[in-house]
Amino acid sequence: MNNISHKITINFKQENRKISLDVPEGENILQHFEKSGEKLPFSCRNGCCTTCAVKIISGTIDQSQGIGLSKQMQSRGYGLLCIAIAIAQAELETQEDDEVYELQFGKYLGSIKNKAGNPFDI
Ligand code: FES
Repeated sequence: MNNISHKITINFKQENRKISLDVPEGENILQHFEKSGEKLPFSCRNGCCTTCAVKIISGTIDQSQGIGLSKQMQSRGYGLLCIAIAIAQAELETQEDDEVYELQFGKYLGSIKNKAGNPFDI
């Protein structure tokens, strides 16, 4: 049995507090915090929507199961809590609603035009 665990600290910006837990290696970080009674932001739980996005302040998380965050966003230090697996000590910071979604998709959504024009311009 693997008894290794890693200290994961989450700076929960929306609630202005820091939470630290020892998460067993290989365990899902969001689920472990929830089991401990900590309700963190999430929606799809499938690595797709970015509701659970965090900024990785220090350390490392395994987020190889996620498809909702581009390699470019990952290289800028963002991660998704719902698919994050504990593999080392890490400090993470929750993001404001839609902050990461806008960074990743905003430029594309803003450029979408159809031949009939924008229905919101009426
Ligand atoms: S809850 Fe949707 S990406 Fe994590």
